[in-house]
Amino acid sequence: MSSSMCMADLHSIDKEAAVSTGPAWQWLPEQTRGHRFVRWQSSVVVTKYADCRSVLSDRRFGNGLRAELGAMPDIDPRFVERRRSSMLLEEGERHTRLRRLAIPALRPRNFERFRPAMSQVVNELVDRVVDQGRCDAVVDLCSPVPISVICWVLGVPREEAEFFAEVAEASTALFSGDASTVPAAMAATEKIDSYIEDLIERRRGHPGMDLITDLIAAAEAEGGKVTSTDVMTIITSLIVGGTDTTRNQLAIALHCFAERPESWERLRRQPELVPNAVEEVVRYAPTAYAMKRITDEDVELGGLLVPRGTSVIVMSALANRDDSVFPDPERFDIEREFRLPHLGFGWGLRSCVGSVLARAELSGALTILSRRLASLALDGETRWSRPDTIQGPVTLPLRFEAA
Ligand code: HEM
Repeated sequence: MSSSMCMADLHSIDKEAAVSTGPAWQWLPEQTRGHRFVRWQSSVVVTKYADCRSVLSDRRFGNGLRAELGAMPDIDPRFVERRRSSMLLEEGERHTRLRRLAIPALRPRNFERFRPAMSQVVNELVDRVVDQGRCDAVVDLCSPVPISVICWVLGVPREEAEFFAEVAEASTALFSGDASTVPAAMAATEKIDSYIEDLIERRRGHPGMDLITDLIAAAEAEGGKVTSTDVMTIITSLIVGGTDTTRNQLAIALHCFAERPESWERLRRQPELVPNAVEEVVRYAPTAYAMKRITDEDVELGGLLVPRGTSVIVMSALANRDDSVFPDPERFDIEREFRLPHLGFGWGLRSCVGSVLARAELSGALTILSRRLASLALDGETRWSRPDTIQGPVTLPLRFEAA
């Protein structure tokens, strides 16, 4: 590629294909084959693994969602400020500080204690459908899992699950960039803020065995430099960042297996393959298939001149199919050996802080589902959500036999 390559020279992705066909990872590879960078409307799409990693580690690429939020019409500036102060949208030093605070509270041993409860919730969900031999996996098996887990992690009763589901959905909808989602997202943010604020106050008086207690302790260890607002923004980021992603990724996993009965049977025979199978699902079909960035200055990326203020899409769905890193990338192989990590949980400055919990949830659920459901198969048409920042099935009809 010559060093004078600019955006106008790039091959453009067919916009119709983006909205009319199924999930991004099914049609994108074909549309972008042979191109290191492509254009999608006014954005540059980065397709190769190494380029994606370097963008995700480079501070000159700012948070694209943050920029999009500010550009939405008729949006209350106080709401913009509030959302921008969350870990998901914050930048610079404050962002680093919030991550530093959250990461120790999200380490593996803090989730070990939730394993039995996680198994219980998945078993209960299976109990309800197993004799019917069919279900809509999105509604019946996947959506309830992360919400229940969030309740345990925060140490609140499971009756609160509906509330979290509602606020998480309204908050995530905002990332579609659709202005009609703003009023519901504003109302949801207000509700969740006051709920969490109240919870923090209660935990200060009565510490528990939960993430809020852990975060308060971590904040106190920082010598009072961390405020209740910091703790609150972390918690809400975890609810918003960890709900839709996990339920979509679990549904995608079941779709992958329902299309490949031999892999499902393999998993049933060899449950020790589950953790690797989770990695393969997230590589092959990442729900967070596109990460949005914006250039803070003119940048040269692999010979491409990207002007300041350009929206850049880091396409993990394509990076995860880069055959220089993942041989035979179109093959779904639950025994794949990973020389380098896939980008389904991001990379670098903003990589997923909840990936330990997400992996535990996906592994826990797949272990139980594969133990209890035999002959998994698609039972009608899967409908997919539009390609926003995350994608997954809206309905996933499955049939199975009780094992
Ligand atoms: C299978 C489930 C999940 C997937 C596929 C996923 C994927 C991702 C990805 C790709 C990013 C990076 C976004 C970017 O660079 O723009 C991210 C960030 C994030 N994730 Fe996850 N995630 C999952 C579950 C979770 C869970 C369970 C939590 C919380 C407990 C969580 C909390 C977050 C937060 C707070 C961020 C923002 C980090 C930052 O901006 O510094 N995620 N996630």
